[in-house]
Amino acid sequence: MSLTTLGMKIFAKMDPEAAHRLAINLLRFGLFPSSKLLSKDPILEQNVFGINFSNPIGLAAGFDKNAEAFEPILALGCGFVEVGSFTPRPQFGNPKPRAFRLLEDEAAISRHGFNNDGLAKGLERLALRKKRSGLVGINLGINKDSKAPIADYVDSIIRASAYGDYITVNISSPNTEGLRELQNADNLDCLLKEIYKVKSSPLNDKKVPPILLKVAPDITNKMVEDIINLALKYKIDGLIVGNTTISRPSSLQHHSKNEAGGLSGKPLFELSTKILAQFYILSEGRINLIGSGGVDGVETAYAKIKAGATLIQVYTGLMYRGPELFRIIFDGLGNSLREDGFANIKDAIGVDAHIWH
Ligand SMILES: Cc1cc2nc3c(=O)[nH]c(=O)nc-3n(C[C@H](O)[C@H](O)[C@H](O)COP(=O)(O)O)c2cc1C
Repeated sequence: MSLTTLGMKIFAKMDPEAAHRLAINLLRFGLFPSSKLLSKDPILEQNVFGINFSNPIGLAAGFDKNAEAFEPILALGCGFVEVGSFTPRPQFGNPKPRAFRLLEDEAAISRHGFNNDGLAKGLERLALRKKRSGLVGINLGINKDSKAPIADYVDSIIRASAYGDYITVNISSPNTEGLRELQNADNLDCLLKEIYKVKSSPLNDKKVPPILLKVAPDITNKMVEDIINLALKYKIDGLIVGNTTISRPSSLQHHSKNEAGGLSGKPLFELSTKILAQFYILSEGRINLIGSGGVDGVETAYAKIKAGATLIQVYTGLMYRGPELFRIIFDGLGNSLREDGFANIKDAIGVDAHIWH
């Protein structure tokens, strides 16, 4: 049994939140049994919203919530890490237990409610970043008692602009009451209009990085259309599709399946990939999409790309496959693209979107 397999077995027996803390600490202190570093593969390289990505495999928000371990994570070979979600002020989050591992479903349910050290602390850690050793996105949320969500997002974007390669405006976590209502057309119009104003006015000479919007997989066709129209109108650089789901597929086995919160992992793959393909087709490929939900290996990663994703993100898959997942996808994706005769990953984006739609 490899050290990683043994480690994963131990992690699986621990309380999920304690296991997560341990993983972050092992990474911080360079003790995580990592796989060998990846070499480059030009077939996986692409320029997306003005940024060169060495590979399309990213770590989704919520793992390095407080920006403590993004450098060792980047060293595992992923193309980018999204830190956060950060709220303007520190927040404890919901009472514990608030994380559940659904072992036989290869899934998780979480209702942390944006527990984090606050944006100021996060930016302090990001400021120590060794110059551009990899790509880091900053995911922004709002405090649960926010009186002015739109103003809070705008203010956080201004504060975070100098520290991230991109910024994600997260309006889709299911555990902050009312947050997902920002996805409704009228609210979204107000939010994106304000973001657009910030983007188009020079900020103390510093440029605002690309801005992405993270949406839920639990949305109607009409909402998909509205989000596309508004994202195009206000020149949003990309959409992350999507966050965890509040739905519960009937296939779930584990006794924790009805815990409140967002479901992630394998059972989210189909739903999130369908919505992704819908965004791709209805936007006619005019918006960069980041596929998140149930990626746990080469097959699911490649399927996301072919359904319309330019980049992909993983989280729950790491709980079940360990840090080697990055290397496995990196190797396998390059090989699959070559076998199918693609010269670059860009050529494979969306080729199967019609199958999912
Ligand atoms: C424990 C946990 C915490 C998460 N926290 C956040 C968060 O703070 N912000 C966010 O945008 N997404 C968060 N997510 C959602 C993930 O970023 C990802 O979009 C989702 O889990 C689907 O991907 P997966 O199936 O690969 O896990 C969290 C997910 C999990 C499992």
